[in-house]
Amino acid sequence: MRAITLLPGVPNSARLDEIPDPPITDGPILIRTLALGVCGTDREIVSGIYGEAPPGADRLVLGHESLGEVIEAPAGSGLAPGDHVVGIVRRPDPVPCPACAVGEWDMCRNGRYTERGIKGRNGYGAERFRLEPDFAVKADTALGPLAVLTEPASIVAKAWDQVERIGKRSQSWQPRRLLVTGSGPIGLLAAMMGKQRGWEVHILDRGLGSSKPALFRDLGARHHTGSIANLKFDPDVVMECTGAPEVVAGLVGRTAPGGIACLVGLGGDHAMQFDIGRFNRSLVLDNDVIFGSVNANHAHYRMAADALARADKDWLARLISRHVPLSRWQEALQRRSDDIKVVIDFTA
Ligand code: BGC
Repeated sequence: MRAITLLPGVPNSARLDEIPDPPITDGPILIRTLALGVCGTDREIVSGIYGEAPPGADRLVLGHESLGEVIEAPAGSGLAPGDHVVGIVRRPDPVPCPACAVGEWDMCRNGRYTERGIKGRNGYGAERFRLEPDFAVKADTALGPLAVLTEPASIVAKAWDQVERIGKRSQSWQPRRLLVTGSGPIGLLAAMMGKQRGWEVHILDRGLGSSKPALFRDLGARHHTGSIANLKFDPDVVMECTGAPEVVAGLVGRTAPGGIACLVGLGGDHAMQFDIGRFNRSLVLDNDVIFGSVNANHAHYRMAADALARADKDWLARLISRHVPLSRWQEALQRRSDDIKVVIDFTA
Protein backbone atom coordinates (compact mmCIF):
# COMPACT_ATOMS: atom_id res chain seq x y z
CA MET A 1 0.00 0.00 0.00
CA ARG A 2 1.07 3.60 -0.49
CA ALA A 3 2.17 5.64 2.53
CA ILE A 4 3.92 8.94 3.19
CA THR A 5 7.10 8.07 5.07
CA LEU A 6 10.21 9.98 6.14
CA LEU A 7 13.43 9.69 8.09
CA PRO A 8 12.91 11.66 11.32
CA GLY A 9 15.63 14.26 11.78
CA VAL A 10 16.52 14.25 8.07
CA PRO A 11 15.07 17.31 6.33
CA ASN A 12 13.03 16.67 3.20
CA SER A 13 13.38 12.88 3.32
CA ALA A 14 9.61 12.41 2.93
CA ARG A 15 8.44 10.31 0.00
CA LEU A 16 5.42 8.36 -1.18
CA ASP A 17 6.49 4.81 -0.35
CA GLU A 18 5.22 1.31 -0.95
CA ILE A 19 4.98 -0.42 2.47
CA PRO A 20 3.44 -3.66 3.80
CA ASP A 21 -0.14 -3.65 5.08
CA PRO A 22 -0.53 -2.48 8.70
CA PRO A 23 0.50 -5.11 11.28
CA ILE A 24 -2.19 -6.73 13.43
CA THR A 25 -0.22 -5.47 16.46
CA ASP A 26 -1.60 -2.00 15.63
CA GLY A 27 -5.08 -3.28 16.53
CA PRO A 28 -7.90 -5.51 15.26
CA ILE A 29 -9.85 -2.76 13.44
CA LEU A 30 -8.79 -2.43 9.81
CA ILE A 31 -9.51 0.92 8.22
CA ARG A 32 -9.32 2.36 4.71
CA THR A 33 -8.01 5.91 4.83
CA LEU A 34 -10.30 8.56 3.41
CA ALA A 35 -8.52 11.76 4.34
CA LEU A 36 -5.54 13.05 6.28
CA GLY A 37 -5.25 16.58 7.65
CA VAL A 38 -1.90 18.35 7.63
CA CYS A 39 -0.74 20.73 10.38
CA GLY A 40 2.33 22.62 11.54
CA THR A 41 3.58 19.56 13.44
CA ASP A 42 3.67 17.56 10.17
CA ARG A 43 5.63 20.34 8.49
CA GLU A 44 8.09 20.38 11.40
CA ILE A 45 8.52 16.61 11.14
CA VAL A 46 9.10 16.81 7.38
CA SER A 47 11.65 19.58 7.89
CA GLY A 48 13.56 17.32 10.31
CA ILE A 49 13.11 19.23 13.57
CA TYR A 50 10.62 16.91 15.27
CA GLY A 51 9.45 13.30 15.13
CA GLU A 52 10.73 9.85 16.05
CA ALA A 53 10.51 6.54 14.13
CA PRO A 54 9.05 3.41 15.78
CA PRO A 55 11.62 1.33 17.72
CA GLY A 56 13.85 -0.60 15.30
CA ALA A 57 12.63 1.31 12.21
CA ASP A 58 14.36 4.05 10.25
CA ARG A 59 11.29 5.57 8.65
CA LEU A 60 8.12 6.96 10.20
CA VAL A 61 4.72 6.91 8.51
CA LEU A 62 3.54 10.52 8.76
CA GLY A 63 0.06 11.70 9.72
CA HIS A 64 -2.03 12.08 12.86
CA GLU A 65 -5.21 13.84 11.68
CA SER A 66 -7.08 10.85 10.32
CA LEU A 67 -10.41 9.89 8.86
CA GLY A 68 -11.13 6.42 7.56
CA GLU A 69 -13.81 3.87 6.81
CA VAL A 70 -13.91 0.59 8.72
CA ILE A 71 -13.16 -2.47 6.55
CA GLU A 72 -13.25 -5.02 9.37
CA ALA A 73 -13.92 -4.73 13.10
CA PRO A 74 -14.23 -7.41 15.78
CA ALA A 75 -17.60 -8.09 17.39
CA GLY A 76 -18.02 -6.01 20.53
CA SER A 77 -15.85 -3.16 19.24
CA GLY A 78 -18.94 -1.01 18.63
CA LEU A 79 -17.86 -0.57 15.02
CA ALA A 80 -18.98 -2.19 11.79
CA PRO A 81 -17.75 -2.09 8.18
CA GLY A 82 -18.67 1.22 6.56
CA ASP A 83 -18.48 3.24 9.80
CA HIS A 84 -16.32 6.33 9.73
CA VAL A 85 -13.61 6.54 12.38
CA VAL A 86 -10.86 8.82 13.57
CA GLY A 87 -7.76 7.46 15.31
CA ILE A 88 -6.61 8.91 18.62
CA VAL A 89 -3.04 10.23 18.35
CA ARG A 90 -1.42 9.42 21.70
CA ARG A 91 -0.90 6.05 23.39
CA PRO A 92 -0.25 5.91 27.14
CA ASP A 93 3.24 5.29 28.41
CA PRO A 94 4.08 1.65 29.25
CA VAL A 95 4.71 2.18 32.99
CA PRO A 96 2.05 3.77 33.15
CA CYS A 97 2.33 7.08 34.99
CA PRO A 98 -0.61 8.10 37.25
CA ALA A 99 -2.18 10.14 34.44
CA CYS A 100 -1.84 7.47 31.73
CA ALA A 101 -3.09 4.86 34.20
CA VAL A 102 -6.48 6.60 34.30
CA GLY A 103 -6.72 7.29 30.55
CA GLU A 104 -5.39 10.85 30.80
CA TRP A 105 -2.49 10.22 28.42
CA ASP A 106 -2.77 13.84 27.31
CA MET A 107 -1.45 14.73 30.78
CA CYS A 108 1.37 12.10 30.71
CA ARG A 109 3.82 12.75 33.53
CA ASN A 110 6.92 10.91 32.39
CA GLY A 111 7.07 11.75 28.68
CA ARG A 112 7.19 8.07 27.69
CA TYR A 113 3.92 8.27 25.74
CA THR A 114 3.98 7.58 22.01
CA GLU A 115 2.06 9.41 19.27
CA ARG A 116 0.96 8.03 15.93
CA GLY A 117 2.73 9.77 13.08
CA ILE A 118 4.78 11.84 15.52
CA LYS A 119 6.63 9.99 18.26
CA GLY A 120 7.67 6.34 18.10
CA ARG A 121 4.58 4.99 16.24
CA ASN A 122 3.60 4.94 12.60
CA GLY A 123 0.93 7.40 11.64
CA TYR A 124 -2.26 7.36 9.62
CA GLY A 125 -0.79 8.60 6.31
CA ALA A 126 -1.12 5.20 4.63
CA GLU A 127 -3.88 3.75 2.46
CA ARG A 128 -4.87 1.44 5.31
CA PHE A 129 -4.26 1.58 9.05
CA ARG A 130 -5.30 -0.40 12.10
CA LEU A 131 -6.62 0.73 15.46
CA GLU A 132 -7.32 -0.71 18.89
CA PRO A 133 -11.03 -0.28 19.83
CA ASP A 134 -10.13 2.04 22.72
CA PHE A 135 -8.35 4.41 20.35
CA ALA A 136 -10.95 4.54 17.59
CA VAL A 137 -13.51 7.34 17.71
CA LYS A 138 -16.67 6.82 15.70
CA ALA A 139 -17.43 9.81 13.50
CA ASP A 140 -20.87 11.01 12.49
CA THR A 141 -21.21 9.88 8.82
CA ALA A 142 -23.37 12.97 8.26
CA LEU A 143 -20.18 15.01 8.65
CA GLY A 144 -18.64 13.19 5.67
CA PRO A 145 -15.07 14.34 4.99
CA LEU A 146 -15.43 17.16 7.56
CA ALA A 147 -14.84 14.59 10.31
CA VAL A 148 -11.14 14.90 9.45
CA LEU A 149 -11.34 18.02 11.67
CA THR A 150 -11.98 15.83 14.73
CA GLU A 151 -8.33 15.64 15.80
CA PRO A 152 -7.63 19.39 15.69
CA ALA A 153 -11.05 19.94 17.32
CA SER A 154 -10.02 17.52 20.10
CA ILE A 155 -7.03 19.75 20.92
CA VAL A 156 -9.41 22.70 21.24
CA ALA A 157 -11.97 20.67 23.23
CA LYS A 158 -9.25 19.79 25.72
CA ALA A 159 -8.20 23.44 26.01
CA TRP A 160 -11.82 24.44 26.68
CA ASP A 161 -12.23 21.61 29.18
CA GLN A 162 -9.15 22.78 31.07
CA VAL A 163 -10.24 26.44 31.02
CA GLU A 164 -13.63 25.48 32.45
CA ARG A 165 -12.08 23.34 35.15
CA ILE A 166 -9.79 26.22 36.15
CA GLY A 167 -12.71 28.65 36.06
CA LYS A 168 -14.51 26.56 38.65
CA ARG A 169 -11.89 27.57 41.26
CA SER A 170 -14.25 30.50 41.88
CA GLN A 171 -17.94 29.92 42.57
CA SER A 172 -18.75 33.25 40.95
CA TRP A 173 -17.02 32.64 37.60
CA GLN A 174 -19.29 34.05 34.92
CA PRO A 175 -17.11 34.51 31.85
CA ARG A 176 -18.51 36.23 28.81
CA ARG A 177 -15.72 37.44 26.58
CA LEU A 178 -13.33 35.25 24.69
CA LEU A 179 -10.28 36.48 22.81
CA VAL A 180 -8.72 34.10 20.31
CA THR A 181 -5.28 35.08 19.06
CA GLY A 182 -4.52 33.58 15.66
CA SER A 183 -7.02 32.31 13.14
CA GLY A 184 -5.63 29.06 11.78
CA PRO A 185 -7.78 25.93 12.15
CA ILE A 186 -7.16 25.75 15.92
CA GLY A 187 -8.06 29.42 16.45
CA LEU A 188 -11.17 29.16 14.30
CA LEU A 189 -12.33 26.00 16.07
CA ALA A 190 -11.67 27.65 19.45
CA ALA A 191 -13.81 30.61 18.35
CA MET A 192 -16.52 28.27 17.10
CA MET A 193 -16.63 26.46 20.46
CA GLY A 194 -16.80 29.85 22.20
CA LYS A 195 -19.84 30.74 20.11
CA GLN A 196 -21.41 27.37 20.89
CA ARG A 197 -21.11 28.33 24.56
CA GLY A 198 -22.89 31.62 23.90
CA TRP A 199 -19.81 33.79 24.52
CA GLU A 200 -18.89 37.10 22.90
CA VAL A 201 -16.02 36.09 20.64
CA HIS A 202 -13.17 38.32 19.48
CA ILE A 203 -10.44 37.19 17.11
CA LEU A 204 -7.13 38.99 16.87
CA ASP A 205 -5.13 38.30 13.76
CA ARG A 206 -2.92 40.46 11.63
CA GLY A 207 -1.93 38.42 8.60
CA LEU A 208 -5.18 37.32 7.05
CA GLY A 209 -5.95 35.18 4.05
CA SER A 210 -8.74 36.48 1.86
CA SER A 211 -11.42 34.10 3.15
CA LYS A 212 -10.99 34.95 6.84
CA PRO A 213 -13.06 38.14 7.29
CA ALA A 214 -16.17 36.38 5.90
CA LEU A 215 -15.54 33.37 8.14
CA PHE A 216 -15.37 35.61 11.22
CA ARG A 217 -18.49 37.49 10.18
CA ASP A 218 -20.49 34.35 9.49
CA LEU A 219 -19.47 32.94 12.87
CA GLY A 220 -20.58 36.15 14.57
CA ALA A 221 -17.08 36.90 15.88
CA ARG A 222 -15.53 40.37 15.99
CA HIS A 223 -12.24 40.85 14.25
CA HIS A 224 -9.32 42.94 15.53
CA THR A 225 -5.94 43.70 14.02
CA GLY A 226 -2.97 45.38 15.67
CA SER A 227 -1.54 44.44 19.02
CA ILE A 228 -3.21 43.07 22.15
CA ALA A 229 -2.16 46.19 24.02
CA ASN A 230 -4.55 48.26 21.89
CA LEU A 231 -7.68 46.19 22.48
CA LYS A 232 -10.44 48.23 24.11
CA PHE A 233 -11.79 45.42 26.29
CA ASP A 234 -10.48 42.89 28.81
CA PRO A 235 -11.25 39.28 27.84
CA ASP A 236 -12.21 36.79 30.55
CA VAL A 237 -10.51 33.99 28.63
CA VAL A 238 -7.82 33.99 25.97
CA MET A 239 -7.10 31.08 23.68
CA GLU A 240 -3.63 31.79 22.38
CA CYS A 241 -3.21 29.91 19.11
CA THR A 242 -0.24 31.64 17.45
CA GLY A 243 2.67 30.52 19.65
CA ALA A 244 4.32 33.82 18.67
CA PRO A 245 6.51 35.02 21.58
CA GLU A 246 5.40 38.66 21.26
CA VAL A 247 1.73 37.66 21.34
CA VAL A 248 2.28 35.39 24.37
CA ALA A 249 4.19 38.15 26.20
CA GLY A 250 1.42 40.60 25.33
CA LEU A 251 -1.14 38.54 27.26
CA VAL A 252 0.30 39.57 30.62
CA GLY A 253 -2.11 41.94 32.34
CA ARG A 254 -4.53 41.95 29.41
CA THR A 255 -7.26 39.76 30.83
CA ALA A 256 -10.02 40.84 33.18
CA PRO A 257 -9.19 40.07 36.86
CA GLY A 258 -9.36 36.31 37.44
CA GLY A 259 -8.60 35.87 33.75
CA ILE A 260 -7.49 32.62 32.20
CA ALA A 261 -5.17 32.43 29.20
CA CYS A 262 -4.62 29.07 27.60
CA LEU A 263 -1.54 28.62 25.41
CA VAL A 264 -2.37 26.16 22.64
CA GLY A 265 -0.02 27.35 19.90
CA LEU A 266 3.61 26.53 19.32
CA GLY A 267 5.95 29.01 17.68
CA GLY A 268 9.63 29.10 16.98
CA ASP A 269 12.23 29.75 19.68
CA HIS A 270 13.14 33.37 19.72
CA ALA A 271 14.63 35.39 22.54
CA MET A 272 13.00 38.61 23.61
CA GLN A 273 12.94 40.87 26.65
CA PHE A 274 10.26 40.02 29.15
CA ASP A 275 9.45 41.78 32.45
CA ILE A 276 9.19 38.90 34.92
CA GLY A 277 8.41 41.30 37.78
CA ARG A 278 5.39 42.67 35.95
CA PHE A 279 4.33 39.14 35.02
CA ASN A 280 4.47 38.11 38.68
CA ARG A 281 2.65 41.20 39.95
CA SER A 282 -0.04 40.93 37.37
CA LEU A 283 -0.78 37.25 37.96
CA VAL A 284 -0.72 37.51 41.74
CA LEU A 285 -2.75 40.70 42.16
CA ASP A 286 -5.39 39.66 39.62
CA ASN A 287 -5.62 35.91 40.32
CA ASP A 288 -4.75 35.38 36.66
CA VAL A 289 -3.81 32.04 35.18
CA ILE A 290 -1.69 31.45 32.11
CA PHE A 291 -1.27 27.77 31.29
CA GLY A 292 -0.43 25.41 28.44
CA SER A 293 -2.48 22.62 26.92
CA VAL A 294 -1.44 19.81 24.58
CA ASN A 295 -2.98 16.70 23.05
CA ALA A 296 -6.36 15.17 23.97
CA ASN A 297 -7.79 12.07 25.61
CA HIS A 298 -10.81 9.99 24.65
CA ALA A 299 -13.30 12.29 26.38
CA HIS A 300 -11.96 15.28 24.41
CA TYR A 301 -12.38 13.45 21.10
CA ARG A 302 -16.01 12.84 22.04
CA MET A 303 -16.46 16.52 22.96
CA ALA A 304 -14.86 17.43 19.61
CA ALA A 305 -17.13 15.07 17.67
CA ASP A 306 -20.17 16.56 19.43
CA ALA A 307 -19.05 20.13 18.72
CA LEU A 308 -18.50 19.33 15.03
CA ALA A 309 -21.88 17.60 14.82
CA ARG A 310 -23.58 20.75 16.19
CA ALA A 311 -21.63 23.16 13.94
CA ASP A 312 -22.83 24.77 10.72
CA LYS A 313 -21.54 22.33 8.09
CA ASP A 314 -21.16 24.99 5.40
CA TRP A 315 -19.01 27.09 7.71
CA LEU A 316 -16.91 24.07 8.72
CA ALA A 317 -16.40 23.11 5.07
CA ARG A 318 -14.82 26.53 4.47
CA LEU A 319 -12.09 25.67 7.01
CA ILE A 320 -10.76 23.07 4.57
CA SER A 321 -9.15 25.38 2.08
CA ARG A 322 -7.48 22.73 -0.10
CA HIS A 323 -8.07 19.04 -0.86
CA VAL A 324 -4.95 17.52 -2.43
CA PRO A 325 -4.97 14.01 -3.96
CA LEU A 326 -2.48 11.55 -2.44
CA SER A 327 -0.47 11.44 -5.68
CA ARG A 328 0.31 15.18 -5.20
CA TRP A 329 0.87 14.94 -1.40
CA GLN A 330 3.91 17.26 -1.47
CA GLU A 331 1.66 20.19 -2.39
CA ALA A 332 -0.27 19.67 0.83
CA LEU A 333 2.87 20.28 2.87
CA GLN A 334 3.71 23.55 1.12
CA ARG A 335 2.11 26.51 2.83
CA ARG A 336 0.08 28.98 0.78
CA SER A 337 -1.01 32.38 2.06
CA ASP A 338 -4.74 31.63 2.01
CA ASP A 339 -4.44 28.14 3.55
CA ILE A 340 -6.52 27.24 6.55
CA LYS A 341 -6.67 23.42 6.81
CA VAL A 342 -5.16 21.40 3.98
CA VAL A 343 -6.33 17.81 3.61
CA ILE A 344 -4.81 14.95 1.61
CA ASP A 345 -7.56 13.02 -0.16
CA PHE A 346 -6.83 9.28 -0.15
CA THR A 347 -9.86 8.48 -2.30
CA ALA A 348 -8.88 10.62 -5.32
C1 BGC B 1 -0.93 17.07 17.84
C2 BGC B 1 -1.01 16.57 19.27
C3 BGC B 1 0.38 16.24 19.77
C4 BGC B 1 1.29 17.44 19.60
C5 BGC B 1 2.71 17.20 20.11
C6 BGC B 1 0.05 18.21 17.74
O1 BGC B 1 0.16 18.60 16.41
O2 BGC B 1 -2.20 17.54 17.42
O3 BGC B 1 -1.84 15.45 19.33
O4 BGC B 1 0.33 15.86 21.13
O5 BGC B 1 1.33 17.81 18.23
O6 BGC B 1 3.37 16.15 19.47
